[in-house]
Amino acid sequence: MAGMAGFHERPKAELHLHLEGSVTPELMRELAPEVSAEEIRGRFAFRTFAGFLECYKWIVERLRCPEDYALVARRLLDSLAQQNVRYAEITISAGVVLWKKQEFAPIYHAVHREAARSTVTVRWNLDAIRHFGAEHAMRVAELAAEQVGNGVVSFGIGGDEERGPAEWFTDVYKFAKAGGLRLTAHAGETAGAESIWAALRLGAERIGHGIRAIDDAALLRHLRDQNIPLEISVSSNVATGVVDSLRTHPLRRLYDAGVPIVLNTDDPGLFNTTLEREYDLAASELGFSETELTQIVGNGFRYAFADSAGRP
Ligand code: ADE
Ligand code: ZN
Repeated sequence: MAGMAGFHERPKAELHLHLEGSVTPELMRELAPEVSAEEIRGRFAFRTFAGFLECYKWIVERLRCPEDYALVARRLLDSLAQQNVRYAEITISAGVVLWKKQEFAPIYHAVHREAARSTVTVRWNLDAIRHFGAEHAMRVAELAAEQVGNGVVSFGIGGDEERGPAEWFTDVYKFAKAGGLRLTAHAGETAGAESIWAALRLGAERIGHGIRAIDDAALLRHLRDQNIPLEISVSSNVATGVVDSLRTHPLRRLYDAGVPIVLNTDDPGLFNTTLEREYDLAASELGFSETELTQIVGNGFRYAFADSAGRP
């Protein structure tokens, strides 16, 4: 861990970060004072990916109005600024907003306003839920396309890749691309390497997680040669049980295979992590050197979807 304190000071970028997943148990108590601390503790005590998705849904159900979203954004942006994060692409689960039958525009305006007040440069990614299907995803892509030029840079799919195969979304990704959006997709997190290939066939330019690429040598070469980065979140993968332990996380082997890597928190409130901590874990548990981590910090800016991400 020698020298790793430097990663606090270092200007950083986060590219895979869910707004709703930044809600901590303490913030949940503020948002829903009627819920007991004990219930919140229980909800956050998941050990599986299915349990994680349940918790995520439970949190989002309790974001009742644009002001709730604004509070979450404010707290997240304060935390990012404190960690010297200069640029963040933040995902909004727009698909869940639609599922709740809330209007998206006032929520987006509320969080966009908070971002404008922050020292962090923010761009937004709108995310559809894979297992809600293609029609639902198209509505999210339409919302995203409406906000191109107004802070939204990309479209993606999350949720359960087993119950929402990439093939369903071919037309949606075509539409999003034609609408000026950059493309990402969660893939190879709970499902295997074939799910990553399928996301690439959709046109995904970055892969959320993508850790199962480690099982497919041809895919590792493809990601390296085509310069397609994996948005890796070590704590997330341990907390959802998709890897057994920090020490056995494939990050080290993916990096050594030459695959471009970006480090992220995914859902920092649910996984009790920060971007600084992800860097510390890569150093202490996976043997990354300061030079290697410096390169990964640079990747956060290099693989940003906005030209204005800059490079400190
Ligand atoms: N939504 C928020 N976090 C996610 C994750 N890690 N995988 C899939 N969908 C998500
Ligand atoms: Zn994610």
